[in-house]
Amino acid sequence: MFVTTILDRVQFTGRFLRRPWRVGAIAPSSNHLAEVMTSWGGLHEANVVVEYGPGTGVFTSRILARLKPGAAFIAIELDRVLCQSLRRRFPEAAIYCDSAVNVMTWLRRHGLSAADCIVSGLPWAAFGPELQQSLMDSTLEALAPGGRFVTFAYLQGLALPSGRAFRRKLLERFPIVRTSRVVWRNLPPAFVYQCTR
Ligand SMILES: C[S@@+](CC[C@H](N)C(=O)[O-])C[C@H]1O[C@@H](n2cnc3c(N)ncnc32)[C@H](O)[C@@H]1O
Repeated sequence: MFVTTILDRVQFTGRFLRRPWRVGAIAPSSNHLAEVMTSWGGLHEANVVVEYGPGTGVFTSRILARLKPGAAFIAIELDRVLCQSLRRRFPEAAIYCDSAVNVMTWLRRHGLSAADCIVSGLPWAAFGPELQQSLMDSTLEALAPGGRFVTFAYLQGLALPSGRAFRRKLLERFPIVRTSRVVWRNLPPAFVYQCTR
């Protein structure tokens, strides 16, 4: 159930070759990274969970398996082709083809005012300062007090000004930021930020 298939990889790499700056990685996250991401979200206690940039759904399957009964789940993916596959694979989930900047629109559409947990698969270091800023503003608006924002960063991203700028923004805007160990069994190696509002 949680295994990334060859077909997922082929589809993901195809989308990367079309829009590398948006997809931000040549392969979907590994099951090892997915495990850290979804175990750091406090998902079993959350009433409302949002996922940004699910891609082929490597985090989505784990999020759905960890949700408590009755919890709301909304996923927002910008790539139309990936969105269509996600809807086929997870017919029980609310999946919107849009930018995560519009997270509040989709929460309100479900009669919700905030999320307890936001799991982000976005390639933040591939984004310019304006997009990083607007995504961060929307995330803080959408996150309930005490809520968790969980996101990953590629190790090599710390050498990029945009990766360092993202890290600074997290430290400035969240009172608590935890960093995981490096997950070496991921292409490229990555680590997880767990930020509490
Ligand atoms: C690095 S991939 C991660 C995919 C998946 N979460 C994983 O870990 O394998 C980033 C994903 O974010 C999506 N994306 C990029 N910008 C986005 C945005 N502004 N809003 C929503 N999704 C976005 C891309 O289409 C892509 O599927």
